[in-house]
Amino acid sequence: MEKYVIRGGKPLVGDVNIGGAKNAAVAILPATILAGGKCLIENLPCISDVMASLQILSELGANIRMVSRSTYEIDTTHIDSTEVSNELSRQMRASYYFLGALLGRFGSGQVAMPGGCNLGPRPIDQHLKAFTALGAQDSVEYGQIHVRAEHLSGGHVFFDTVSVGATMNAMLAAVLAEGTTVLENVAREPHIVDLANFLNMMGADVHGAGTDVIKIHGVKSLHGCNYSIIPDQIEAGSYMVAAAITKGDITLHNVIPKHMEPITAKLRAAGCTVEEFDDALRISRTGELRPLKLKTMPHPGFPTDMQPLMTALLTLANGTSIVTEGIWENRFRYVDELIRMGANIQVDGQVAVIEGVSALHPAPLRATDLRAGAAMVMAALAADGTSEVDETIHIERGYENIVEKLQLLGADIRRVEIPANAVSRAM
Ligand code: EPZ
Repeated sequence: MEKYVIRGGKPLVGDVNIGGAKNAAVAILPATILAGGKCLIENLPCISDVMASLQILSELGANIRMVSRSTYEIDTTHIDSTEVSNELSRQMRASYYFLGALLGRFGSGQVAMPGGCNLGPRPIDQHLKAFTALGAQDSVEYGQIHVRAEHLSGGHVFFDTVSVGATMNAMLAAVLAEGTTVLENVAREPHIVDLANFLNMMGADVHGAGTDVIKIHGVKSLHGCNYSIIPDQIEAGSYMVAAAITKGDITLHNVIPKHMEPITAKLRAAGCTVEEFDDALRISRTGELRPLKLKTMPHPGFPTDMQPLMTALLTLANGTSIVTEGIWENRFRYVDELIRMGANIQVDGQVAVIEGVSALHPAPLRATDLRAGAAMVMAALAADGTSEVDETIHIERGYENIVEKLQLLGADIRRVEIPANAVSRAM
């Protein structure tokens, strides 16, 4: 196990390259199954969730060739299994996308109940509702979800709640179903559009991604293609917070400024200067941080995955901020860590009231989940002195080379191996 040791208090200055979007990659990789051929996928982030997805594909029988750190050739012609192993499916939430992809191509798929960040209840009833509308049946036994269908045909789904995962899974299952599928009240995140573009590159007929109705005309077969994944909105937003919280000046490369708009607007309101270029964005702060009111919502609202990072930032604002979590039931678990740094935060259910303080103090910190872990890193970068962040395995699920990227921006951060006996004593 590793921890990060961070000596904070320095402004971060310089350039950073943003990697491919995790939440697009973890759907596009299973989607290659539908090609039954060779796909070349570029701009894959080098993170553990991507490595787990590649390993699942390989276990199912796909042939995988690494072309470079961020490009893989995946040949799914000879996949001969429809069951994802227990151990790999539990490693990440997104293993549920294998259900839709395997069901779409083979009429059967099985995964263990997915793992991932603990953000409160994470049901998959809307995924199953969509599969049922296409003619599939499902069963859950010993923690395994099995979906199967004799024949998939187009259906009409009105989702009860806006769900990224259910929208993508329904798309995966529907592209090869016979007839037309209409999905209403769908998620509109940039990664939904990216998956639709990828499916269409493979020969699918998907319309409306990015709006709240998606129409899919089923096709008989798909084929392989070359595809480059969009940049990661949340990784980019995290480096924007790094500049904002340390009074730094960072230029982000390989971003789509349009995708960043909900985050850019809030950071400007908090007193940062943000300049937008074609595929880059520069953010700096010289003055004081202003408090904000923000509520997380499905896209194009403010993204929930930025919520812990913004809360960390607002601990240093000059005044009272109110952050409302509109997606997950339990996404403030990390607040106790910030309080140990001297932050003044009261949480009542889905609402956090943050009284800004003049400084955060270094402390031993825990990454309670992926984005909360990133928020701890940012808070530690702002605190004058040495902090340690434990359980970094969560952070590395979603941030490629975070330590190296921060070092290039001038941060004093390093990975330190925790000896095995120290880990067992601490448990
Ligand atoms: C995706 O999770 C992301 N994960 C999450 O990012 C992100 O927080 C979330 O979307 C919201 O943007 C991946 O893409 C792998 P949802 P997902 O289905 O798809 C309820 C990160 O940090 N719901 O949009 O699992 C659910 O309980 C991760 O990168 C149902 O009720 O989220 C939640 O309240 C964490 N029934 C809301 O919908 C369902 O069948 C949104 O969940 C499905 C969801």
